[in-house]
Amino acid sequence: MSRMDAFRNRVGGFAFGGDYNPEQWDPAVWREDVRLMREAGVNVVSLGVFAWASLEPEPGTYEFGWMDEIMDLLHENGISVNLATPTAAPPVWLTQLHPEVFPVMADGERFGFGNRLHYDPSSPIYREYAAAITTKLAERYSFHPALAMWHISNEYGPTAYNEAASVNFRRWLRRRYGDLETLNEAWTTRFWSQRYTDWDQIEVPHIPRTWMNPSRRLDFKRFTSDALLECYIAERDIVRSFRDDIPVLTNFMRFYKHADYWKWAPEEDAVALDIYPNPADADSHVSAAFQFDLFRSLKGGQPWLLMEQAASAVSQWQLNIVKEPGRMRLGSLQALSRASDSVMFFQWRASRGGQERFHSAMLPHSGPDSRTFREIVDLGRELKLLAPAAGTTSRAEIAVLFDWDGWWGLEETAGIPRSDFGYADTVMRHYTPLWEGHHPVDVVSSASSLEGYKVLVVPNAYLIDDEGVRRITEFARDGGTVIMSFFSGVVDECNRVRPDGYPGAFRELIGAKIDEYWPARPHEVFAVEFADGRRATSTWWRDDLHLETGKALATYADGLLAGRAAVVDNRFGAGRVVYFATLLEEAAFGAELLAAVEAAGVRSPFPGVPAHVECSVRGDEADEYVFLLNHSGERAESVPFPGEGTDLLTGERVSGAVELAPLGAAVIRRARA
Ligand code: GAL
Repeated sequence: MSRMDAFRNRVGGFAFGGDYNPEQWDPAVWREDVRLMREAGVNVVSLGVFAWASLEPEPGTYEFGWMDEIMDLLHENGISVNLATPTAAPPVWLTQLHPEVFPVMADGERFGFGNRLHYDPSSPIYREYAAAITTKLAERYSFHPALAMWHISNEYGPTAYNEAASVNFRRWLRRRYGDLETLNEAWTTRFWSQRYTDWDQIEVPHIPRTWMNPSRRLDFKRFTSDALLECYIAERDIVRSFRDDIPVLTNFMRFYKHADYWKWAPEEDAVALDIYPNPADADSHVSAAFQFDLFRSLKGGQPWLLMEQAASAVSQWQLNIVKEPGRMRLGSLQALSRASDSVMFFQWRASRGGQERFHSAMLPHSGPDSRTFREIVDLGRELKLLAPAAGTTSRAEIAVLFDWDGWWGLEETAGIPRSDFGYADTVMRHYTPLWEGHHPVDVVSSASSLEGYKVLVVPNAYLIDDEGVRRITEFARDGGTVIMSFFSGVVDECNRVRPDGYPGAFRELIGAKIDEYWPARPHEVFAVEFADGRRATSTWWRDDLHLETGKALATYADGLLAGRAAVVDNRFGAGRVVYFATLLEEAAFGAELLAAVEAAGVRSPFPGVPAHVECSVRGDEADEYVFLLNHSGERAESVPFPGEGTDLLTGERVSGAVELAPLGAAVIRRARA
């Protein structure tokens, strides 16, 4: 049995709970906490996330008494512990003894004390102290009956420009390139006289007076992600060395640019997401859906864990809007619908002081007699009804490419035809029509297998390695449909322009050669005409594109590129490529993308359902769980539901159609056809 199967069995379905910080409270409060946790159906808490100073108040002096007591208390009450190593917040004595642990920022400024994540991941001293506290915790609690999971550190993220980072960067570069000649080639150091003759000449890329070498900058992004991963692995291996049947993971963030989660995921038993959709943003649930699909995909379709969300408002923004009644439940069900095996929160009890004193909690300042707590109790009850769906997952026919290398290349290295590409935005532009069409979507990296997919969507993949190019090309040749947007396949993995004209990697694939990239002036709008006479507009970007084997699906109707293709259709091997050479207006782009999906033989499983009713399915060999989620404040009447089944939330039989309250939901179990 896998470690995660054992965890699921232990919690009896979905994990439900949150970060618990008893060190902020008097022990008398702990009793009340545990009583209310039971009332809410909490079965797991994440303990000790930032508790280093409470566990080791002075170097080498440990105070475990309080944690012993709380671990016992939780266990006696049937609540499992996701025990954190506290290494995301080093105590003040550590930074006082060793100020070099503080990260130096790109401009040379050193962090001060009073926040969190104030460590240089490459610092040997930080790593030594982190290993020591991790070892102590593992020694003491590995066999405590409450222990169900290890939560390593918290939201790995710091980027540091310290001397120790330079030393570690050089080590990383030696491993990557072997010799300096290869590095000089990879970084094109003949440009601006940057040639290195000794490894010690290489430093992390501080803010330069002019531009930074784009290949060095790119490698620094890769290195930073790997340096953080080294910290995670070191702590993971310590806890594993004591006991290896307990799942180990850390918590990731939404659209987080600075750690390549594809590389991290294989090192964890499950991936876990912290997500805070902004209730003030009407589309935040669509980007949440993408994140959930990404997290399901990071470990090849295995269920993932929603590790943190807010019960209501957060406190880190300028304006922190509450989640109106029903919104927290709907967001929780949405995560489950896309294969989360948990609903967890930051945090259990609202803090009285500190930076996050106004962050909502499962148990808010207003106590148990509050709207939020009542909603939490209701959710805990509903999760038990949904328990049969835990451990199940889904698989799509459409894949969207999402790559950290591509993200860094596009946004972090400067010197490209326009510097305002937003990778997350472009990915969402491609994902949204699929979401609105209720299409199941998986997310892939350029190193993922594409077997079993019918459609691959490639949003602005500027930087992609040869292996990625080969996979995409083979996919089309073997009969797949590739939907690709402009400025793809331009540079190799070292950020060097691919030879023989744009788009170097994909010229044959798209059946066209691009003479020049023509970013648009602000406010420039182009008329585009489709072969069937439909008209649309485009902005922002045009390729000066010359068709080879491709045919024009649409052409520019005005401007200097009038008559040239704006959308290309290329038959390639047994497959097809649809290439967008300009930024089409949203509606026309969505329609074209969906038409290509349909032509590839992929049908939406939920035809006729309005876009704001999100539909998704998870299941196993025997059963499917169909989630219908009404994101609108209006009642959704007569939502077509193909087939019949039982709504697990109400126990009622459903066939043909369902009605959903404003922000309402149905979770229908039906036998797999
Ligand atoms: C997360 C973090 C939590 C808490 C939360 C607030 O990023 O892990 O500790 O700060 O945000 O929204």
